[in-house]
Amino acid sequence: MEIRKAHPTDLPIIASLARLTWRHCYPSIVDRGQIEYMLAQRYSPEAMLASVASGQLTYELLTVDGEPTAFAAHSPTPLPSEHKLQQLYVRPEWQDRGLGRQLIHHVSAIARAAAKSTLVLTVNRRNLQAIESYLRSGFVIRESADFDIGNGFVMEDYVMTRRLDVPPLSQPSPYPCES
Ligand SMILES: CC(C)(COP(=O)(O)OP(=O)(O)OC[C@H]1O[C@@H](n2cnc3c(N)ncnc32)[C@H](O)[C@@H]1OP(=O)(O)O)[C@@H](O)C(=O)NCCC(=O)NCCS
Repeated sequence: MEIRKAHPTDLPIIASLARLTWRHCYPSIVDRGQIEYMLAQRYSPEAMLASVASGQLTYELLTVDGEPTAFAAHSPTPLPSEHKLQQLYVRPEWQDRGLGRQLIHHVSAIARAAAKSTLVLTVNRRNLQAIESYLRSGFVIRESADFDIGNGFVMEDYVMTRRLDVPPLSQPSPYPCES
């Protein structure tokens, strides 16, 4: 398993990983029209290249035996103490095998090296699998927040944070654990 900063030539592979994972995992959580709208908005070659070129987003690609298997995207935020995990997607057949946590640790290390004390993310409030995995990886729920993303779509999210300057405190899961 290897994690490396993605090159511009990796962006089409990352876009296909995103499309595969979203279409497999999100139909029970998000309206199909919203899935396609958000995929087109975030993963068009132009949008990805522009966000990388402007330094808005950095992508980290995780490969297993050379095969692209998961990725994360991250960025600074306007708050000097915060870094944001913007995207985290693991191929469906590789989920729940520790790869998401490896990427969280990788991005946490990058943020810590930049003297950030908090890693923040947003996650759909109906995405119980991701919320559970974030809680188990040391995040806590800070607040609920709704974001109007245009075209009549609203993202109904939790904002979750992970302290980078102290060992994580565990927060009891608000959901029944199936495992
Ligand atoms: C959410 C996601 C990134 C997590 O990555 P992952 O590689 O599957 O998770 P990990 O294997 O690193 O698991 C981390 C912890 O969460 C737990 N976990 C993972 N999937 C879980 C599930 N479906 N239900 C309950 N717990 C789960 C793991 O058991 C582990 O906890 P433990 O070490 O205490 O046992 C990944 O499942 C994914 O890509 N999901 C679909 C897309 C998505 O929702 N992305 C997040 C958008 S905000």
